[in-house]
Amino acid sequence: MRYLVTGGAGFIGSNIVDELVRRGHDVTVLDDLSSGKEENLASVRRKIKFRIGSIIDLAHAQEALKGVDYVIHLAARTSVPKSVQDPVETNLVNIDGTLNMLVAARDAKVKRFVYAASSSAYGETPVLPKVETMQVAPISPYGITKYVGELYAQVFGRVYGLGNASVRYFNVFGPRQDPSSQYSGVLSRFMLAAIRKEPLTIYGDGGQTRDFTYVANIVDETLRACEAEAGSGQVFNGGTGARITLNEVVKLLEKIIGRKIPVAYEPPRAGDIRDSQADISLAQKVLGYKPSVLFEEGLKLTWEWYKSAYDRH
Ligand code: UD1
Repeated sequence: MRYLVTGGAGFIGSNIVDELVRRGHDVTVLDDLSSGKEENLASVRRKIKFRIGSIIDLAHAQEALKGVDYVIHLAARTSVPKSVQDPVETNLVNIDGTLNMLVAARDAKVKRFVYAASSSAYGETPVLPKVETMQVAPISPYGITKYVGELYAQVFGRVYGLGNASVRYFNVFGPRQDPSSQYSGVLSRFMLAAIRKEPLTIYGDGGQTRDFTYVANIVDETLRACEAEAGSGQVFNGGTGARITLNEVVKLLEKIIGRKIPVAYEPPRAGDIRDSQADISLAQKVLGYKPSVLFEEGLKLTWEWYKSAYDRH
């Protein structure tokens, strides 16, 4: 089968590409390298087609989609605070870019379009865990854009017959998550600070919770969402079903690293949700998904990876 992975040079994308190549599929990556890196694809580079370009460019999207069976659409601006700072940019990439990809996928008659949605769509709904049937209530520009992408994918299913599925990712972490920006995912920031022996920064009191999901689980679920007979037109949570506070994460990290880690507490960030936890029963039932790497094991694997990638001393 031929797959197009947008954002395939990024953290989650490159992990998906590795697995597709391992399974013997033809893979094209479309990535503008705004946050992705070519080196993430180093081990598969000779086996894939790599197109540098933006999803905002419809002609480029159409060209990339020729002969493709499945699209996995990950390319996006992924940061909540960045969307608060520049909502127009996030809207352009995440909504207009997704619409372009859907138009191009419809015209190329792909079998299924799998969209990387986000748990941020749930926003501050008070009930935990989050179930797909709940009313959404995003509280950041980012959350809105990610939710609109799901709606567009479903509407393209209804009005043009485009096979589609969305997976609402819950705080994915693991090897290759780029820690270099203040907007990077929290665990990648923690890893880098711990390697440099600097204090970790926690925004707020550290009591906020997340369903941190090791990337191998998300790779598995996303590929299931492509291939499952059932599931077209549906939205699935992509998490583990658990949640943990940032303060507890620090304790676990101290256990793994074997020393105390200092923490600097700063004011909470605008647009931040307080709690997040997935109910994964729908994905279990329809896709046969079951997370195989739980949090503590994932944290160890991730620490090992950051040590080899970033600890040069
Ligand atoms: C993350 C993802 C987003 C995804 C969503 C799904 C990133 C950058 N964002 O958003 O793409 O759709 O999960 O649920 O991967 N924090 C600290 N210290 C830091 C950095 C962050 O305390 O150095 C805090 C934040 O204020 C927040 C929590 O950690 O309370 C998680 O932040 P972050 O990793 O940016 O993820 P989300 O905003 O949950």
